[in-house]
Amino acid sequence: MSFKLYLAPLRGFTDYIYRNAFSRHFDGFDEAVTPFIPTLKTIRAKPSHLKDVLPENNLAMPVVPQIIGNNHENFIPLARQLSDLGYDTVNWNLGCPFPMVAKKQRGSGLLPHPDRIDRFLEKTIPAIPNRLSVKIRLGRKRPDEVFQLLPIFNRYHLKEIIIHPRTGVQMYSGEPDLDTFQQCLEATDHQIIYNGDINDLETFKRLAGRFKGIEHWMIGRGAIINPFLPSIIKAGKDNYTGRVEKFRHFYEDLFGEYQKVFAGPGHLLERMKGFWFYFSQAFEDGRKIRKKVHRTLKLDRYMEIVEHFFDENAKWKR
Ligand SMILES: Cc1cc2nc3c(=O)[nH]c(=O)nc-3n(C[C@H](O)[C@H](O)[C@H](O)COP(=O)(O)O)c2cc1C
Repeated sequence: MSFKLYLAPLRGFTDYIYRNAFSRHFDGFDEAVTPFIPTLKTIRAKPSHLKDVLPENNLAMPVVPQIIGNNHENFIPLARQLSDLGYDTVNWNLGCPFPMVAKKQRGSGLLPHPDRIDRFLEKTIPAIPNRLSVKIRLGRKRPDEVFQLLPIFNRYHLKEIIIHPRTGVQMYSGEPDLDTFQQCLEATDHQIIYNGDINDLETFKRLAGRFKGIEHWMIGRGAIINPFLPSIIKAGKDNYTGRVEKFRHFYEDLFGEYQKVFAGPGHLLERMKGFWFYFSQAFEDGRKIRKKVHRTLKLDRYMEIVEHFFDENAKWKR
């Protein structure tokens, strides 16, 4: 079976520092969609706004930049600027579930407005040099909202549609709605990428067995928790040894790189706490290390806790 794996965009996690560190220690991902870049009112974004997608920061893994926004006037110049940087595809975020974003009719907040989406595509697609890919949920409030959208998407040339089969209001609760996802496959002319809760090889095999036509799969949290997962899925078997050591090397590399870019210890600590919410889930009794890290207020103390954990307690669970 030949298929591709995409690293999902996770804002605050899968930035270029993470992607590069991942590539130095693991493999299995064919490409990544970047965390979203917001549209701007200015015609040209400053390099600092585009840091995550600057080609020199992305030598290790091919990326598709993702843009979040709801009007073509602001989207088009950003997409063109990304084309100038060499990106032949950009992804439009129609999935972000956060109320602050959605209530401004961005991300999943646009899903109940098929007319707006239609107008956006009508204006944008002929005006940008890049191919457009979209990342959606099934709807904002109801999973059947997607059935208003797929016929619209069918009228446009899109590179692909990435579907995370939950609604926006669900955030990450409940199970992915596989029956509605199946119906989406029947209602679309586009290439579909499945995304959601691929956390282990068994889940992947079950999904791949059910959705035989899917050639591309996207994994987010499952790979942050267990970065061996993409290559396990590619190999179709799980025979890694020495995981704690390998993971530790990766972790130390990642931490070292973040130390270089974060100005203050507070930001670095917050970033690492975010990661340990996921990392901890790969270890036996992971709640303990998660809580310890979460409670820490000082970077020095954090570093001691993690070092002690790797030296004494870390046992890989999966
Ligand atoms: C902390 C966090 C940040 C996310 N940031 C983005 C984002 O910037 N753009 C996006 O399209 N999706 C974002 N997502 C959604 C993921 O890309 C993905 O669709 C979702 O996590 C389901 O896939 P998974 O179960 O493999 O993680 C984010 C999810 C999380 C948990």
